Amino acid sequence: MSVVNSANKLQDLATHCKELLVYSNLDLEVDMYIQRVTELDKNVLKWAIDLTERNMKSLYETCAWGWNRDRKVEEMTEDHAWYLIAKKKNGSPLAFSHFRFDMDFGEPVLYCYEVQVEAEGRRRGLGQRVLNVLEKLAHATRMRYVRLTVLTHNPAASAFFKACGYITDETSPPKEEAAHYEILSKTTGEGVSNAQTEEQSLTEGVRAVSVENNQP
Ligand SMILES: CC(C)(COP(=O)(O)OP(=O)(O)OC[C@H]1O[C@@H](n2cnc3c(N)ncnc32)[C@H](O)[C@@H]1OP(=O)(O)O)[C@@H](O)C(=O)NCCC(=O)NCCS
Repeated sequence: MSVVNSANKLQDLATHCKELLVYSNLDLEVDMYIQRVTELDKNVLKWAIDLTERNMKSLYETCAWGWNRDRKVEEMTEDHAWYLIAKKKNGSPLAFSHFRFDMDFGEPVLYCYEVQVEAEGRRRGLGQRVLNVLEKLAHATRMRYVRLTVLTHNPAASAFFKACGYITDETSPPKEEAAHYEILSKTTGEGVSNAQTEEQSLTEGVRAVSVENNQP
């Protein structure tokens, strides 16, 4: 728990991933910043909630969770929520992630609650870059995994996370339970064996992305 508390107290998370916060791919140029929900501009927060509703409402409605905007707003505004916001050069927001440092099944993890990209910004490597930032932060703050939940009837998201090297987590419900969601994760290498890290790197996706050269 102490590493989680330390991570949550950090004043400037951006210093741990500065080189990843500028992203360009052909004519797409994006800057990213990281803030606690309590520091986030109210209009940006509203945009993030609206984008989540636009992207996810119908998917939630077709499973046991159902869509409840108030419940989603409550989750997205909880005090421990952190936000990574990606905005275009003209200032308009294009993608975001809501994430938290937390204990999950007894392990310190960076839990990715959302990664949402506006339709116009998709398939240009931005989602992958957002995950790269989370992975760098998880490593820098000594979390064991980046962990997330994906709906099994959201094949685009499943394909995306798998292409980015995420695999079924040991805490995911067994296939026989036919749950409507799956837990995926990627290890940071903190406190895990070499065999696990090797297994993860073998599943790395279709596109090898260099996080050093700022290109997809
Ligand atoms: C899923 C999502 C975040 C992906 O973001 P993105 O910026 O489009 O993804 P990237 O361009 O970084 O994709 C990286 C790789 O993931 C895979 N991928 C991404 N989107 C995919 C899709 N729709 N179908 C199949 N594979 C996909 C591809 O292998 C892709 O590489 P390629 O474009 O070179 O083939 C975005 O489509 C989105 O916001 N969807 C709606 C919200 C959602 O479902 N969020 C996830 C649940 S929380």
